[in-house]
Amino acid sequence: MEVLIEKCAGLLPPHPLVFTRFSGGEIVIQSESANLFSAIKTFIYVFPCAYYPLQTIDPVVKATFDGTVVRVGKEGRVLYEQSGYGRLDQDGVKLSHQEALYLLHRQKIDVAGYTFNTLFSQFADQANFLRSFLVYRDLRERGYVVQAGPHDFRVFRRGEKPGMGESLYLVRVLSERDPIRFVKLIEEVVASRNMRKQYVLAVVDDEEELTYYEIKLQKLAEPGNYAPEVSTQEALLVGKSAMVMVPALSDLERSGFGKRLDAERLLLAPVELLYLMGTGKIVLKRGDNLVGTDEYFALARETDGELAEKDKVYTELRGHNFTPRTGYKFGHHFRVYCGKNVHSDMLVHAVEKEVSLPMSVISRSVRMAHSVKKKMLFGAVHTTGIQFVEFARIKLCALTMQEPRINPWSSNQSVDVEKLFSDFGIEPIAPILPDLPNVPYFMQRGIVVGHRDYRPIASAIRNHTPFHILTGFMPSGHPHLGHLMVMKEVVWHVTQGGNGYVTIADREAHAVRGMSWEKCREFGKEYLACLYALGFLGQTYFQSKNERLKDLAFEAATKVNFSELTAIYGFSPETDLAHADSVITQVADILYPQIDREPAPTVVPVGIDQDPHIRLTRGIAHKLRMFTVEERHGCISVRSKNAPEKALEAVKSAFPDAKKYAGHVDIKGAACSDVSAKVRQIERDHGGFAFYTPSSTYHIFMPGLTGGKMSSSIPESIISFYEPETTVRKKVMSGITGGRMTLEEQKRLGGEPDRCSLYMLNLFHMVTDDRELAEIRRKCVSGEITCGNCKKETAERVVAFLRVFREKMDAAAESIEV
Ligand code: TRP
Ligand code: SF4
Repeated sequence: MEVLIEKCAGLLPPHPLVFTRFSGGEIVIQSESANLFSAIKTFIYVFPCAYYPLQTIDPVVKATFDGTVVRVGKEGRVLYEQSGYGRLDQDGVKLSHQEALYLLHRQKIDVAGYTFNTLFSQFADQANFLRSFLVYRDLRERGYVVQAGPHDFRVFRRGEKPGMGESLYLVRVLSERDPIRFVKLIEEVVASRNMRKQYVLAVVDDEEELTYYEIKLQKLAEPGNYAPEVSTQEALLVGKSAMVMVPALSDLERSGFGKRLDAERLLLAPVELLYLMGTGKIVLKRGDNLVGTDEYFALARETDGELAEKDKVYTELRGHNFTPRTGYKFGHHFRVYCGKNVHSDMLVHAVEKEVSLPMSVISRSVRMAHSVKKKMLFGAVHTTGIQFVEFARIKLCALTMQEPRINPWSSNQSVDVEKLFSDFGIEPIAPILPDLPNVPYFMQRGIVVGHRDYRPIASAIRNHTPFHILTGFMPSGHPHLGHLMVMKEVVWHVTQGGNGYVTIADREAHAVRGMSWEKCREFGKEYLACLYALGFLGQTYFQSKNERLKDLAFEAATKVNFSELTAIYGFSPETDLAHADSVITQVADILYPQIDREPAPTVVPVGIDQDPHIRLTRGIAHKLRMFTVEERHGCISVRSKNAPEKALEAVKSAFPDAKKYAGHVDIKGAACSDVSAKVRQIERDHGGFAFYTPSSTYHIFMPGLTGGKMSSSIPESIISFYEPETTVRKKVMSGITGGRMTLEEQKRLGGEPDRCSLYMLNLFHMVTDDRELAEIRRKCVSGEITCGNCKKETAERVVAFLRVFREKMDAAAESIEV
């Protein structure tokens, strides 16, 4: 930290307008000069210890409020140019009220004569100002650029802003009590669609919480002149119910009509009856008299005010080959089966188009539908036809910008890979692949996407020089398919000549997850069994049993203080010491191969969530060095950081053309790599660690079968190794696919493999042959295969894989002793 401050002070010209201070574990650099500021930003960009979340405070721009508009002058144009605030106006920028208040709140502008409170009260008379401000702020804090739009706001694609990109969403702000009038809503959705934007409702509830819904008009699959294949029947009207005398498994029932009363009688619901009468499949009689459709309609209508809309929507759905059944249990008019699915796919509620429903009612419906994994559609009935309006709750993802920390212990690991590349200095792996003699499938297929400093590893593989490969597992539950990726990475690197190490992080599981030591051992053994089943060769250990590891952790702990832990992990005074200890133990894990064998490049394959540990370890590895070696002004300079004088002397003697100064030796006429190697040797001879800064690779997470994250806490999302085959099949068969609503649509448009959890399962583990995988993809996108068949095939692959894998695990388990 001090070094950083020193560097800041050293690198930046001393200037009365630049202040550096250290606050709450962060370096804060403050300046009122915009020019100086860009210099500071560049400096931050190049500073290698990027793990300090450096926070910058932009210069405050002066603004004025004339009673109507807030304006900033020329120097405020950056607000527009860099971040898309306001509209350009003469030589300054005109800000909307929401923008002005937000900027004032973030201390980016100063409005002469106003505080946040007084400005707020100026705006507060406008209808719904608070509500739209809250939405504006939320969108901004998620990192989106927002401008005023035809409804309320226009929201730009991530990373884009006016002048350089197109807006993506049109957002309408509502309160939970606002009524939704369907005609009006449909008009707005159509208008957005014509502008090629997504229409989004932002609903602010009474506690000022926000929920976003995407609204779409659903086109149902083309009908194809459908009429159910049932023979014409007579039905009897008893009271208001109609009864058909047909035996079990009649045509009617097989086509999804009626409810069986007993072995001979089938009862038809009014909408069913009206539809069947309309298509001439039912002749209705009361006693011996015929009852006409209109007559029956009038009768049924007496007890059902919504019958007209229900009837129209029912008929429409039937016309599209769907099977609507009552949706009473779900609180809606219909649950609708598409194609041959066992479960209904959507809930449909019929409304008259002029009708208004309060947002709270709609919210309840959507929630209900989503909780049973169905789409929620409202069928709005016009005289000219029916429009199906879909409400889907969406999450507008936050950009990592506002929340620069990744928390390794949080359960929410949805991270944006590209953002990580740009914000955290993780590099894409693709450019390195040509350097590898063999490219493993997980890199080829884009599963392992990023790295830090992987080049030394690639070069060690190519040149057959020593390197280590290490990863770790926290034994807080049974291993499952989600853990296989890093294991395979370790195994592969061992085949490429790496020295393999795997640690079982029982200290972490005990400290962070409260696992008993007993459980840690049990689960730990399962992880090891998996690993050996994959063919791992190398060393494994439990953290708690490795004394040299603990000593190394202690040594590493001399190089990290609580401010850093706070800055990296958000630790607070309430964080217990064991938690901190588990962090430093992981640092020691990563460095362990270098003390167990020899200093050499080490690669740590991990999921992106573990990156904070990697950054911390890289910093500490560097701090534990005695020397730094760098090229400067045509010579190699070896600087002592905490080397004994004798060691520095030895560096000088090792090279003929070397000059010793206080604290450093300058060497001429030698190659940097030779000097580094020699210096490392000298460091070791003098009792130093001579660590190589560890490298890492990052893989994307395999999605859970339920769509979100794979997590032991959602049993349906994972497949663990000892699950019975029937459960495995069931889980695969009910996995979320990238399939379409209807079979017809699937044939026409094809599936979307990249959104399909089963495809990912195949991509990650189940299909090793690239050609076979390509064939699955082709069949999927061309609509040649149905999801049902594809799932069946996948289920068989998983079952076959597990059969073999379990046997190997069992065999391995016998020889594991802990
Ligand atoms: N923290 C890791 C996890 O939660 C486990 C772990 C411990 C680890 N030591 C490690 C991972 C060293 C990689 C390298 O799963
Ligand atoms: Fe997924 Fe297969 Fe359906 Fe394609 S066809 S979406 S890969 S299940």
